[in-house]
Amino acid sequence: MKVVEQIKQPIAFEMDLFEQKFQLSMSSKVALLNRITHYIVNRKGKQMRPMFVFLVAKMVSNGEVRERTYRGASVIELIHTASLVHDDVVDDSNRRRGFFSVNALWKNKIAVLIGDFLLSKGMLLCIDNDDFDLLKIISVAVREIVEGELLQIDKARKLDITEAVYYEIIRQKTATLIAACCSLGAASVKPNSDHVEKMRKFGELIGMAFQIKDDLFDYGDTAIGKPTGIDIKEQKMTLPLIYVLNNANKKDKSWLINSVKNHNKDKKRVKEVIAFVKDNGGLEYAVTKMKAFREEALTLLNDYPDSEFKSALELMVNYVIDRKK
Ligand code: IPE
Ligand code: IPE
Ligand code: MG
Ligand code: MG
Repeated sequence: MKVVEQIKQPIAFEMDLFEQKFQLSMSSKVALLNRITHYIVNRKGKQMRPMFVFLVAKMVSNGEVRERTYRGASVIELIHTASLVHDDVVDDSNRRRGFFSVNALWKNKIAVLIGDFLLSKGMLLCIDNDDFDLLKIISVAVREIVEGELLQIDKARKLDITEAVYYEIIRQKTATLIAACCSLGAASVKPNSDHVEKMRKFGELIGMAFQIKDDLFDYGDTAIGKPTGIDIKEQKMTLPLIYVLNNANKKDKSWLINSVKNHNKDKKRVKEVIAFVKDNGGLEYAVTKMKAFREEALTLLNDYPDSEFKSALELMVNYVIDRKK
């Protein structure tokens, strides 16, 4: 059995029902909106965030999920989808999940509005059901995603990013939403319990590993359903490059900085930078850090008794690092 199937086994029923509910959660009376949201749901992603929600909920409650667990999972996936639609505008990226991005097909104007629509649908799903505790968890994540993306743009302009700032960026733009998945999963079944904070921390750590993996994909050339090699083009400095910069001699350092600053749209030059990063141990360093985050996350699961849900969650943690897309 494939590892994803193994992970999904204890939450197969919930994931099926989730898909139906998620689809309904996007509906609108406006024809153009429906056309585009259909396009989006027909090109679904890995759905790792709802998987985290259900696995954590079931682990902390010995197998119980509630109606609000489903709503929470839908809200998270709505917010995630909104953030991708907007992110592709921000990153000027034309591919997503193996197809054209929303901005590539319908232009930026419409993509911005679609992202806003999905965000509002998510918020309303909580509000209409009085899930204010879940709404709070989610709203914090939304604010942090935006702050993280802006911090990244700010650092891209100045090209003065340190490893610590990189961790702060990825914590905000990516790890917080995965942290929200896990704390929300716990809060949906065990409100106000210690599980909520413990699982938030767990999600944050695995979310850090998740984004480092995503940044490593950008240095590869395997088909992952979205462009690779675009981070340097967008002057996004990620861990492999930051490490190499910090360890390069003066001459190489100024060549690297000059490349990212003034030749970032030159395909040949970007390829040379990528090769330099690879030749100088940038990828290995990032892999080591990614694994350290995974280990820290796994330690937090030690306090929980063994169960099929815990085992699936452990597999999920490893999947974050071993996944092929
Ligand atoms: C992509 O997330 C955005 C990042 C935070 C790196 P996923 O890789 O989970 O995207 P989908 O939903 O599977 O397409
Ligand atoms: C994560 O960063 C994006 C969000 C927080 C939405 P990236 O820009 O690296 O994500 P991808 O690679 O486009 O999916
Ligand atoms: Mg992007
Ligand atoms: Mg990326």
